[in-house]
Amino acid sequence: MEQKFVKTHFVEMNLCNMIDQLGEDATKDILSSFSCPINKDIENFIKEKAIEFSKRTTAKTHLVFWETEDKEYIEFVGYYTITSKVISVDRTILSNTEAKKLKSQGVYDEIKQEYTISAPLIAQLGKNFSNGNDTLISGADLLQLAVNKIRKIQNEIGGRFMYLECEDNEKLLSFYKQHNFKIFGKRTLDRDETDVNGEYLIQLFAMF
Ligand SMILES: CC(C)(COP(=O)(O)OP(=O)(O)OC[C@H]1O[C@@H](n2cnc3c(N)ncnc32)[C@H](O)[C@@H]1OP(=O)(O)O)[C@@H](O)C(=O)NCCC(=O)NCCS
Repeated sequence: MEQKFVKTHFVEMNLCNMIDQLGEDATKDILSSFSCPINKDIENFIKEKAIEFSKRTTAKTHLVFWETEDKEYIEFVGYYTITSKVISVDRTILSNTEAKKLKSQGVYDEIKQEYTISAPLIAQLGKNFSNGNDTLISGADLLQLAVNKIRKIQNEIGGRFMYLECEDNEKLLSFYKQHNFKIFGKRTLDRDETDVNGEYLIQLFAMF
């Protein structure tokens, strides 16, 4: 029997643009199909906070869809959320090359021996585990889309440092380390971060 291979690709959609195009109710319907049993924070954010955060420009969410070339099938496979924050990085955890790169972008405190910079934060990132949609995208592809988005913005405004924060979980940490992120600190949870496991988050950065 002849086998037919259908080409597929990923399509990204800024949540605000989606609301403009489809309206808020239809957008909420799409978001409600998202499921992430292994990380309730990721699931609750997209269902309960993403629209408000995007509208208030606190953090911008980008939805990722898997689509066949003939556009016959389209599936919501994941999302990531980006914002910009001020962050301090201890000089002692940086290599000389990394310190040199940060020098031109941040303020160095001689006494504390740390750089303070304004940097993009990948605030959320997760695959949609509903209906097996998580098998249509790898974490590597999803992270690459988020990194590419940030690199594109930095190409326009400058900067090469980006960071993220994740639970102290060996699988998550090894995932990010495999993709060139390096641990630089940890921070205690804010009071409203009730869906997060543990009492702190590990902070990791990458410089491209
Ligand atoms: C993190 C993620 C993008 C990685 O995708 P991936 O590289 O394709 O890897 P997989 O989804 O196959 O997960 C790899 C392993 O990590 C585990 N894992 C993933 N996220 C986890 C989490 N938040 N907590 C505990 N374990 C997790 C998976 O259960 C899997 O375990 P297994 O090897 O025993 O089957 C994806 O697992 C995901 O969306 N996780 C849920 C959301 C999340 O935690 N995002 C990170 C926020 S900082």
